[in-house]
Amino acid sequence: MSSRELVVLMKDIVKVYPDGTVALRGVNLELKRGEIHGLLGENGAGKTTLMKILSGLIKPTRGEIYVKGKKVSLKNPAHALSLGIGMVHQHLSLVPVFTAYENIVLGLKNMKPGKTEIEKLMDSTGLKVPLDEVTENLSLGVRQRIEILKMLLRNVDVLILDEPTTNLSPIETRELFKSLRSLKEQGKTIVLITHKIREILEITDRVTVLRKGRVVGSVETNNTNSRELARMMVGREVILEIDKPPVRVGEVALEIEDLHVMSDVGGEAVKGVSFDVRYGEIFGIAGVEGNGQVELAEAIAGIRRVLKGRILLGGKDVTQLSTRERYSMGLSYIPEDRRIALAMDMSVAENSVLTRIIYDKTLVNKMGFLSFNEILRQAMKLVKEFDIVISTFSSPVRTLSGGNQQKLVVGRELSREPSVILAVQPTRGLDVGATEYIRRLLVKMRNKGKAVLLISSDLDEVMGLSDRMAVMYNGRFTGIVDPRKVTEEEVGLMMGGYSIEEIRHEVN
Ligand SMILES: Nc1ncnc2c1ncn2[C@@H]1O[C@H](COP(=O)(O)OP(=O)(O)OP(=O)(O)O)[C@@H](O)[C@H]1O
Ligand SMILES: [Mg+2]
Repeated sequence: MSSRELVVLMKDIVKVYPDGTVALRGVNLELKRGEIHGLLGENGAGKTTLMKILSGLIKPTRGEIYVKGKKVSLKNPAHALSLGIGMVHQHLSLVPVFTAYENIVLGLKNMKPGKTEIEKLMDSTGLKVPLDEVTENLSLGVRQRIEILKMLLRNVDVLILDEPTTNLSPIETRELFKSLRSLKEQGKTIVLITHKIREILEITDRVTVLRKGRVVGSVETNNTNSRELARMMVGREVILEIDKPPVRVGEVALEIEDLHVMSDVGGEAVKGVSFDVRYGEIFGIAGVEGNGQVELAEAIAGIRRVLKGRILLGGKDVTQLSTRERYSMGLSYIPEDRRIALAMDMSVAENSVLTRIIYDKTLVNKMGFLSFNEILRQAMKLVKEFDIVISTFSSPVRTLSGGNQQKLVVGRELSREPSVILAVQPTRGLDVGATEYIRRLLVKMRNKGKAVLLISSDLDEVMGLSDRMAVMYNGRFTGIVDPRKVTEEEVGLMMGGYSIEEIRHEVN
C-alpha cells in the first residue's frame, strides 16, 4: 500500500476566508492511487474547505498542490476536472426537471456519450440509475449515483465525496460502498469525508484526521480503532455511552390518535399511527428513512395536513391549530433538514431568536420594533453555551459549517424551555463531540421532566436514548418496545417490516 504511486500532494495549505476565518492552518495531505482515503474531523475542522481547494472551487491563501508530480495552480472546477479531480458536494446540484441521462451529460461539450456507453459504465461500477427518469422523482441515493457517474464520465481519477452517506439508508450506503470498492479496484482514488467512524473503519485504507484546521495524523485504517480515531478527532477521550438515570414519568404530554398524513406525491405517508409521550420520557421512533417519519413529525409540528386522527398537546386537541399556536403551547421542533429551521441569508443573531420572536416580548422594544440589543444578548448566550463556531454575529448563517448550523438550531430550540421536544435526526452531520453533547442535552431535558419525541434513523441513538421506542415501516409502527428488552437484530427485522410478535413467534 505505502509503495503506491502518489497522485495528489497538498503542501502547507492555509485558507483564510474573506471574513478573516482561518479554516486551514498549514495542512499536508497525500493521496495515493487506488486508495480510499477517509477525511475525519469535528464540525468546522476544515474538511470541506480542504476539498473545495483540491477541486478548484476556492483558492488557498497559501500552499502548494502537486497533481501526479506536477505543481499546479487550480483556476476553477473545470481546470481541476481536466486534471482528473472531481468533487460531489453535500448538497447535490442536479437540474430537477432533467432526466438522469440529461444530467449526466450536461456540460459535456464535445462527444456526448450515448446511453449504451453509460450503461456499460453502470455495469462495471454497480452505479445503476434509470436514465430516462426525471431527476426530481429519484431518491437521494440515486441522485448521488448520477453525480458520481457524471464525474466518472469526465475521467476523474480522484473522486471526492463530501459526507455522501448522510442522507442514505443503510442499504443505499452498502450499495455505495460496493461501488466505491470496485472503483478503487480500477485504480481510482477516493476521498471520503464522513463523521461516521464506523464507515471509516469499514471502507477506508487510510484516514487523515483534521482538528481546527490542522492535521492531527494520517494513519493506516488497519492500525487504528474507533476509540483512537474519536480521541484524535476531539483531542480527548470520548464517552460513547450515555448515563441515563431512572426518572418517574409523568402525565401524557403528547398524544397521537390514529393519525393519517398525506405524502408529497399523493397517497398516505402515515397510515394510522397511535402513541403517547409522557413528561420525563424519551420516546424514540426508529426506522429506515422514508417510511413516513418526516411526514409524521411535520404533522405534529403543524406544517403538514392531517387527513384523519388527532394530535393532543397537554390534553388539548391541537390538530387544527397553527405551528405558531403549537409553539406558544410549549412545543419545540428540530426538523431533519436544518434549512427549514434557518433563514440562510439572515445573520447568526437573527437566526438565534427566529422561533422566539413569535412570543417573547422582550425582543420587541417600546416602539414596537425588534430590539437588537436583546437579540444580540440572546445570540451571544446561545453561541457561548452551545460552543457554536461563528465569525461574527452579523455573518449570514450560511457561512457556518454544517455542524455549527445544526448546533444553532438545536441550541435555540432547547433553550426555549419547551415542554414537548420533537427532535428529528438531531445529530445528523454532527461530529462525535457535538453528537455526544446533544444526546446528553436530550437526556437532561428528559430528566427535567420534559417530553421528548426522538425520530432518528441512527439505531444506536434511538436504542441508547429512548425509554420506549417504536419502529416505523411503511407508514405504520411494527411495534412499540422497551429498547432494553430487544436486540439490535430484532429491531433490524422490525425496520424491515416484521412485527415484534412475528419475530418472537418465529424464534420460539
Ligand atoms: N464561505 C465561508 N466564509 C467564512 N467562513 C467559512 C466559509 N466556509 C467555511 N467557513 C469556516 O471555515 C471553517 C471550516 O469549515 P468547513 O466547512 O471546511 O468545516 P468542515 O470540517 O467541513 O465541517 P462540517 O463537518 O461541519 O461540515 C469553519 O469555521 C467555517 O465556519
Ligand atoms: Mg463539511
